[in-house]
Amino acid sequence: MPYPVIGVSPRQLPEWAALVGHAKELAKTDLRHLFAEDPGRLAWSTFEVGPLHIDLSKHLIRQETLVLLENLARARFLPDAITAMLTGEHINVSEDRAVLHTALRNGANLAGPVDGIDVGVEVEKVLTRMEQFARAVRANQRVGCTGKPFTAIVNIGIGGSDLGPAMVTKALYDFSDKSRAVYFVSNIDPIAIDEVFNRCDPETTLFVVVSKTFGTLETLTNAKAARQWLLKALGEHEDAVEKHFVAVSTNADLVSSFGIDTENMFGFWDFIGGRYSVDSAVGLAIMLAIGPERFRSFLRGFASIDQHLRETPLSHNVPVLLGLLAVWYRNFFGAQSQAILPYSQRLARFPAYLQQLTMESNGKSVRIDGATVDYDTGAVYWGEPGTDGQHAFYQLLHQGTVLIPADFILFAEPLGGPDAQQDLLFANGLAQTRALAFGRDDAELEELGVPAQLRPARRMPGNRPTTTILAQRLTPEVLGALIALYEHSVFTQGVIWGIDSFDQWGVELGKELASELVPILTSAGAPVLDPFDTSTADLVSRYRHMRGRPT
Ligand code: F6P
Repeated sequence: MPYPVIGVSPRQLPEWAALVGHAKELAKTDLRHLFAEDPGRLAWSTFEVGPLHIDLSKHLIRQETLVLLENLARARFLPDAITAMLTGEHINVSEDRAVLHTALRNGANLAGPVDGIDVGVEVEKVLTRMEQFARAVRANQRVGCTGKPFTAIVNIGIGGSDLGPAMVTKALYDFSDKSRAVYFVSNIDPIAIDEVFNRCDPETTLFVVVSKTFGTLETLTNAKAARQWLLKALGEHEDAVEKHFVAVSTNADLVSSFGIDTENMFGFWDFIGGRYSVDSAVGLAIMLAIGPERFRSFLRGFASIDQHLRETPLSHNVPVLLGLLAVWYRNFFGAQSQAILPYSQRLARFPAYLQQLTMESNGKSVRIDGATVDYDTGAVYWGEPGTDGQHAFYQLLHQGTVLIPADFILFAEPLGGPDAQQDLLFANGLAQTRALAFGRDDAELEELGVPAQLRPARRMPGNRPTTTILAQRLTPEVLGALIALYEHSVFTQGVIWGIDSFDQWGVELGKELASELVPILTSAGAPVLDPFDTSTADLVSRYRHMRGRPT
């Protein structure tokens, strides 16, 4: 299998050069002309995938562009890469691990064991245990140490152990059991856990401590604070921790040394990356909220995209095309960022979730073969729900000097509230994609009676690319499909760039340096600051002074 390509920069490829030339050609035209020149444009640029309709027509592309991008994908052996990922090859090279989040939603597709583990069977075993537990909690059979049912679930985790469950629980609130509140604590800022303590009653609170490594400072610190809070109120009950704490982790030893019985632990495996783990046991809080059946339907949404990825030729493979379009703008138009604009209040945390998925995955400047890249990799992902964003930053999208491709995520049906407002919401989203694509020129301004001197300020250049993702309603299945779409787009980008999208060494140094600083900030006597740079030393002194410690 020639994937991964070793020792070759994608920039050296004739397929890359062809795209450079093609981008120059396209720069001579615009979306108005692209639509006018090809009445059949929608036929090749819109797709149905799982429960989603995807419209790529408002991109700065011709049909030929997709062919040229596909050629680049083939030159980087993308089909081999997809097979390697789906069959459990160790494509996470720097950590020597398989990458098998797809097995979480249909492990039965794997031909045999991976690294000695029968993944499909193990995934199903954990799911069944999660389901038993969730059913018992939801039926008030699994109760606290004083016999009271749980009214609050507190997920303690950070990064992939927080963003996924927090985003999905919010997104699927309308499908959840409202008799139990679900809280998320991630930040080590003491006020974060304190807010939860103020809202919860120890007798009726269940803590779900989620950490793949069970070694993450923020999570363990918050979990210890939670244990202390619980024991302060319920310490006379020997089984307080056993009844009020469960863990989700790959590290049984550390779970047990924290004091959580491994009977109360839900496992996953090294081949599930933190940011790809929302559909593993990491989603326990989601299952507690929406119930096992809806969680299964969430998984089916992912599986529909996985199947599409596996079975569809590159030319019609939607997550692949989305990944290739990201490369198109990043490398051939110099786009620095990508906006994510969900027209759904429930998806308010979706951009933050995607930030970890995309930026921790593709924020790399060294290829798998160790060479430093000579081209741009991962873009900055950001966004806010429409229509709030329209009244904040869309001005820059429309008339700013930078090109920012944007994903519009639209729904036909509301999740509640006055039905007619959905029409207004949808109209706004659709209108924005039109305005971004086609703008408003001087002739139109003149027709509207805008005086000549005001026309430059009111001119809308248009030609700003967007993807429209449309679904009937934000259901568990739709959300699973949406996430999987981005997961595979991220992978496609990483394959083109030749980077490892599944490690995250860049976050390690900061963690190390923070541990080094804690004793310096807290020591009883004035610390020796000579080893530090002058800025750090000065800030340490100021902090100690503000905290009333000797300097
Ligand atoms: O700091 C980054 C990171 O390693 C993420 O990749 C991960 O999702 C997060 O920390 C939390 O890690 P853990 O689940 O091991 O606590």
